[in-house]
Amino acid sequence: MGALFAEYQPDSAGTAVTVDVEPLSRAHLDACVALAVQRDGGEEAAWEKALGRSLDADDRATSVALVDGRVAGYGTAAWFAPRDSDPDSAMPEGWYLLGLVVDARCRRRGVGRQLTVARLRWLQQRTDRAWYFASSANRPSIDLHTELGFQLIATDIEVPGVSFTVSGLLYGVNFA
Ligand SMILES: CC(C)(COP(=O)(O)OP(=O)(O)OC[C@H]1O[C@@H](n2cnc3c(N)ncnc32)[C@H](O)[C@@H]1OP(=O)(O)O)[C@@H](O)C(=O)NCCC(=O)NCCS
Repeated sequence: MGALFAEYQPDSAGTAVTVDVEPLSRAHLDACVALAVQRDGGEEAAWEKALGRSLDADDRATSVALVDGRVAGYGTAAWFAPRDSDPDSAMPEGWYLLGLVVDARCRRRGVGRQLTVARLRWLQQRTDRAWYFASSANRPSIDLHTELGFQLIATDIEVPGVSFTVSGLLYGVNFA
């Protein structure tokens, strides 16, 4: 397993590459599963099932980034209803950005940004508000999402099924 978060390097500039973003298809699934296992560990079969849920769903979509024709990352946008699993959850129900992972060899080249722009475009067709949560320790992710308009809504959040390194932060963006 690799490190959970990229090292925070606010003073180094990225070099953009050409990134093609496509909806997840069966052809991408093995490469996405490999990225998920590399980052988070766990069973391939469980990741295949989790990511495969996006293949024929109305309430979620996974975008895949290709660099030189090879899978460089993926990210999901989905309807998330935290109170379905915890009736006391204070988290809002709504459309969320979830599960963004970029291959460690392809980072800081604009892949995560392009995956996020594509998912925000998909969400804009469905809602005027989107959510995202992250560990307070994940500064690269927070900078990326802040640059795209997300604002801090709540600190020390609890998300059913998620354990945060340090603490959890909730961000929101308005499209209107
Ligand atoms: C977070 C992550 C998805 C970013 O992907 P990426 O392709 O490297 O990001 P990009 O190249 O598109 O970066 C866009 C902007 O985000 C910020 N950023 C990204 N990585 C950064 C880093 N390591 N340090 C500081 N800022 C960073 C910068 O503002 C960057 O713009 P710049 O390169 O022009 O300065 C990637 O590091 C990753 O997969 N990390 C592990 C998984 C993870 O943390 N996922 C998010 C869970 S909430």
